[in-house]
Amino acid sequence: MKRQHHFAVIQFSYIFLFITSSQWNVLPQNLPPLRYDGFVYENRKGGSDSILIEAFFDPVCPDSRDTWPPLQKALKHYGSRVSLVVHLLPLPYHDNAFVASRALHIANILNCSFTFPLLEQFFKHQEKFYGSETSNLSKDSIVKEIVKFATVIVGDSYSSPLQFGFNDIQTDLKTRVSFKYSASRGVYATPFFFVNGFGLPGAGSALDYKVWRSIIDPLVGAK
Ligand SMILES: *[C@@H]1O[C@H](CO)[C@@H](O)[C@H](O)[C@H]1NC(C)=O
Ligand SMILES: *[C@@H]1O[C@H](CO)[C@@H](O)[C@H](O)[C@H]1NC(C)=O
Repeated sequence: MKRQHHFAVIQFSYIFLFITSSQWNVLPQNLPPLRYDGFVYENRKGGSDSILIEAFFDPVCPDSRDTWPPLQKALKHYGSRVSLVVHLLPLPYHDNAFVASRALHIANILNCSFTFPLLEQFFKHQEKFYGSETSNLSKDSIVKEIVKFATVIVGDSYSSPLQFGFNDIQTDLKTRVSFKYSASRGVYATPFFFVNGFGLPGAGSALDYKVWRSIIDPLVGAK
């Protein structure tokens, strides 16, 4: 009996070791990140009393582009009662999605007030980065193009810092964290929304203003 008991203890500690070491193996190097992923819109920090929308966008996704104006209108309507955090999910089947997302992280590091204007600039001129427009360009010349493109928003004095940003491995890692965070939330398409932590149906399609009102009105009314 005693020996059996001993054996069980040893077995248990093996299982324990296995679980703890496999948990470590699951977490890749730069995870968890230094800061929570995402860009906070208009510095609305939210709080226990405000409604939190999390949006997952790809800067070169047409549906993300189309969903932005009605969402912006809804945010304007609700003011500080609603806060928004945008996470980036660079989709592998959208040309240049990762490099565009990385540009947003770089701009955000330079000055967080650059982030949303640059996101809007990508939405406005997405077709510059699709298909044949960049199909015969090297990766380096695409980065150059994107630096030029983003300089229009951040200003000439930030052109070199933007360029340097693309040589900094940390900005690559940040963009990977965005991707990994999206994957960890089960997000597989853009746009994709969570309201107070729960996913909305209709993944991958733009929501119009009326839909936003029908989702948020009952929540603010309940307060
Ligand atoms: C960031 O940009 C805003 C708006 O252009 C400006 O008011 C602010 O001073 C800038 N902050 C820094 C740290 O440069
Ligand atoms: C890319 O293709 C376009 C049109 O097909 C051509 O005009 C241009 O010279 C090409 N650029 C390079 C770098 O090969």
